[in-house]
Amino acid sequence: MKLYRILQSQGFGSRKGCLARVRAGAVAVNGAVCGDPEAELDPAGLELTLDGVTWAYREKAYVLMHKPAGYECSQAPKHHPSVYSLLPEQLRNRGLQSVGRLDEDTTGLLLLTDDGQFIHALSSPKRKVAKVYEATLRHPMAQEQLQTLLDGVLLHGDTAPVRATACELPSPTLLRLTITEGKYHQVKRMVAACSNRVESLCRVAVGGLSLPEDLVPGHWIWLDEDDLARLWR
Ligand code: URA
Repeated sequence: MKLYRILQSQGFGSRKGCLARVRAGAVAVNGAVCGDPEAELDPAGLELTLDGVTWAYREKAYVLMHKPAGYECSQAPKHHPSVYSLLPEQLRNRGLQSVGRLDEDTTGLLLLTDDGQFIHALSSPKRKVAKVYEATLRHPMAQEQLQTLLDGVLLHGDTAPVRATACELPSPTLLRLTITEGKYHQVKRMVAACSNRVESLCRVAVGGLSLPEDLVPGHWIWLDEDDLARLWR
């Protein structure tokens, strides 16, 4: 693959821009400046350095973000900044999309990728991928209500109940709940169906992948093959 095409595929700009950057000597390949944009290279395992930053070539980009409160999971946000504004330009150029959405006031684990098939598979209700949320509650919840959530609650406008596949109360106002669907405001509506209210909500895991404790809100990390495999567990 030609160097300028590799750069384009990684989100480093237009054809014209990538050609110009290479010709200007601004691109290093595996540590050595390469001034020929037409140089034929095997992209696998390649390291590209631009503006002092080194990027590993990735055929597809998979990212885990700690979504902060006050951000919308939309490319065209209405009232708050977009989570996409937290990504570097190169990843925005690659057209990353979030896998499902979290509400503006929800925090926690958000996956973003440019792999459409992956988004489709992970979002499919048939796959039953577990999403684990921690909700702080306005009112203390009784242990008996956990059974209501496990048995299923009927949300307004729905014909079939939605149920938690697991839930626990680490404290009377902290609910840890696992669901496998991703309906609109699902956790908040399930809690409301128990005559309570979610005060704050954080997604702490998707499948076998947990939100890293040291990942600061607004920051993101690359996911590797092992992380992706853990998602399906
Ligand atoms: N359930 C909600 O109510 N909100 C979210 O953001 C995610 C799940």
